[in-house]
Amino acid sequence: MPNSSSLAIPFAGRSTADDVLSGVDLARKNILITGCNSGIGYETMRALQAHGAYVIALARSEQAARDAIARAGGSGTPVACDLGDLASVDAAIGKIQGLGRQLDAVIANAGVMGASQAEQLYSGSTTSRTSGWSTACSTWCPTERRGSWS
Ligand SMILES: NC(=O)c1ccc[n+]([C@@H]2O[C@H](COP(=O)([O-])OP(=O)(O)OC[C@H]3O[C@@H](n4cnc5c(N)ncnc54)[C@H](OP(=O)(O)O)[C@@H]3O)[C@@H](O)[C@H]2O)c1
Repeated sequence: MPNSSSLAIPFAGRSTADDVLSGVDLARKNILITGCNSGIGYETMRALQAHGAYVIALARSEQAARDAIARAGGSGTPVACDLGDLASVDAAIGKIQGLGRQLDAVIANAGVMGASQAEQLYSGSTTSRTSGWSTACSTWCPTERRGSWS
């Protein structure tokens, strides 16, 4: 059983995505990220690409995702996915399955902090990181790995 000091995370509030990925080779890793076009999602995608990952980059529109990939200067597949619209989530799942790439990680980043009542969507959930993801993750992730992906 590891002691608590061996579990200490060597990063803090000022650590960057590049700090966290320093020395990590993500070549041949396929990583899906939602909300790739701005903020934490964009920076995470950029750092993943810089460390060799192939990203499946989701944004509300394919153009927004394509622009983000280009801005980051890496390679990846842009996918349109509005998490507030289950039809859009379904279409994204179809496109991703069609790529034939086994996903190594899913980063469910997209969301709105402190969503108001007006932003409440289907089934009473808000446009948060979990919206649409019970559907998406159960489709994308092998059953035995699902617990650590959602
Ligand atoms: N920043 C913080 O201090 C902080 C703290 C705790 C948690 N978080 C969480 O971290 C995540 C990223 O935060 P951030 O600061 O980087 O926010 P941000 O810059 O506002 O980015 C949010 C991203 O989520 C996307 N998004 C929101 N609703 C969506 C929907 N229905 N369908 C598809 N995409 C949607 C946005 O797309 P559009 O550009 O098209 O709107 C954008 O790409 C969020 O889930 C937030 O709740 C942030």
